[in-house]
Amino acid sequence: MFEIVKRDGMARMGKFEVHGKIVETPALLPVVNPKINTIPPRELYEKFGFKALITNSYIIRNTPELRDKALEVGLHEMLDYPGVIMTDSGTFQSHMYGEVDLKNEEIVQFQHDIGTDIGTVLDIFTEPFWTKEQTAESIEVTLGRTKVACDMKGDMLINGVVQGSIYQDLREDCARKMASMDIDVHPIGGVVPLMEQYRYSELVDVVMSSKRGINHSRPVHLFGAGHPMILALATLMGCDLFDSAGYAKFARDERMMFIDGTFRLSDMQSLDCDCPACRGHTLQELRRMEKKAKTRLIAEHNLYQITHELALVRRYLQEGRLWELAELRCRAHPALLDALRRLKEHQAQMELSDPISRDGAIFYTGPESRGRPTYLRYLQRIRDRYVPPTDKAVIFPECQGKPYSRPYAEDFDKARRAGFTPIVVSPFGPVPAELDEMYPLAQSLFPSIPDMETDTESERLTFQFLSAAGFKGAITPEQIPEDGTMEYDADLLRAKAVARYQFGIPAADALFRGEIQLVRSKKTGKIRNVISDGEHVLSMRAGDGLYTLRMEGAKRIVEAVPAPHMRVVVMDDAVPFVSDGRNVFAQFVLSCDQNLRPMEEVIVTDGKDNPVATGRMFLTPFEIPFMKKGMAVKVRSGSDD
Ligand code: GUN
Ligand code: ZN
Repeated sequence: MFEIVKRDGMARMGKFEVHGKIVETPALLPVVNPKINTIPPRELYEKFGFKALITNSYIIRNTPELRDKALEVGLHEMLDYPGVIMTDSGTFQSHMYGEVDLKNEEIVQFQHDIGTDIGTVLDIFTEPFWTKEQTAESIEVTLGRTKVACDMKGDMLINGVVQGSIYQDLREDCARKMASMDIDVHPIGGVVPLMEQYRYSELVDVVMSSKRGINHSRPVHLFGAGHPMILALATLMGCDLFDSAGYAKFARDERMMFIDGTFRLSDMQSLDCDCPACRGHTLQELRRMEKKAKTRLIAEHNLYQITHELALVRRYLQEGRLWELAELRCRAHPALLDALRRLKEHQAQMELSDPISRDGAIFYTGPESRGRPTYLRYLQRIRDRYVPPTDKAVIFPECQGKPYSRPYAEDFDKARRAGFTPIVVSPFGPVPAELDEMYPLAQSLFPSIPDMETDTESERLTFQFLSAAGFKGAITPEQIPEDGTMEYDADLLRAKAVARYQFGIPAADALFRGEIQLVRSKKTGKIRNVISDGEHVLSMRAGDGLYTLRMEGAKRIVEAVPAPHMRVVVMDDAVPFVSDGRNVFAQFVLSCDQNLRPMEEVIVTDGKDNPVATGRMFLTPFEIPFMKKGMAVKVRSGSDD
């Protein structure tokens, strides 16, 4: 059972329960070669904290002593490892050395018999150079074998490996067919050659297309990915599990893994590493070490690089800043930068999972930052949900100091009195003055020295917006007429514009009906509550400048805007609990608005469209039908409050 506890981009921080043991994801499983045993599994568990590992059932089965021992005492005792053990099936050996003499049923049964926690089908490794026909045919075989494995698995969990070479449609289709099978983990296979050849942009296509078809209630394992440099990006794309054979293989070849690449001991100029393995050693000492001790030290160093980066990935994920880390890491190698740039082509897919807001500020790290889903969402929403208060605009350049209405206070006022709407050309595109306190606009930091690519694009987007929104003209700040006399209420304009942006135009109309009273913070003067015809319908959050929806507001929206807009419909059984303020769990959801995003305000209703609570979405609409466990909506207030 896999439960999501935190999310960012497409990344999930989760708890994966396997036979009563919990693996916290994202997690990396070190590969243990039972014949070599570079670092004993017990140490991997206790000293390095790896709560799961992967070993190879094919090697065990083909080595008589190991085979007998494993069958006799079981895999956990043989390896002396108390954590979760995943086994691979021999597929990778067939990729390396050609056909293996093995049948799917035999190896699945063997994995079951030695007591592995998570076994693997004998899938067919789809090579990147294969034709589409060849790939499609082999996927059929893999799917057939997967079905057989599901029938045989008993209490063992099973890996259903998504294959498809570099063909995105085949990947998606293979994943979708596996989504309805009784498998437990979705590894994405056939990617090792792409990583070995630094074809990271194709890796992005492969992961993103596989993710489109996958069953979201299962962890996704990126088979063969274990270099620290790829972990942030792969986690961002929604991979939960990784494995590394490299830590030991590289160690035997005297190669040290670092966050920016892998380096030969013979090429290194100094050992500038402070990991527990390297600390206190010099490069010369290490080079002169006896082979076995040297291999051991380098393997430990490699593992520490992995655990260190994984800890960082988790921290950034927890803070909602994983994009920043991935962008940083992708500058280690041009091929990784390609991957980041390719990810922009999947921006719309990423946007479906990306949370509506986060706690900290967004950092712009370069033109690639505009590939983040937040940028696309903002442009889509101002295109569909923005209503200009006047039909003439004043175009202001981006400036330091946010919200823009602070440094530009006088100019904005002068523009508005003259009947113009102030619009700032920001790296997000056009920012109308009414929206400037809202996430992500005020909660973002850009360098004061702009780059040409973003400058040009921001201008293009602004002019596109001006014409689409129906502005009849635009002037520069210097051209604003003096002594305008038009009256305006900046707070009311803001309050309405944010409501339209967040809930859509018809819902905002229902919320801003009749007499409107805005309650402001005594300390900051900012909008706190919106009272409409005496009813408290909305509260504005100080942090992200977005609204929380009150029960009175929810009722208005349900009356005015047809379902499924903003609705999450729950089963009758759940209604009393939800009305009482309890959270909505995935298994109780009947249906929901497919346009909802994580952290978005939602209205929980019963089957007859009666609102029973308001809250914030935690899962995505496409995850909910798959999830057997976990919170779908964090409920704030129920109708019984
Ligand atoms: N290890 C690395 N890649 C793969 C793969 O595609 N399938 C299996 N079973 N194991 C792998
Ligand atoms: Zn080190």
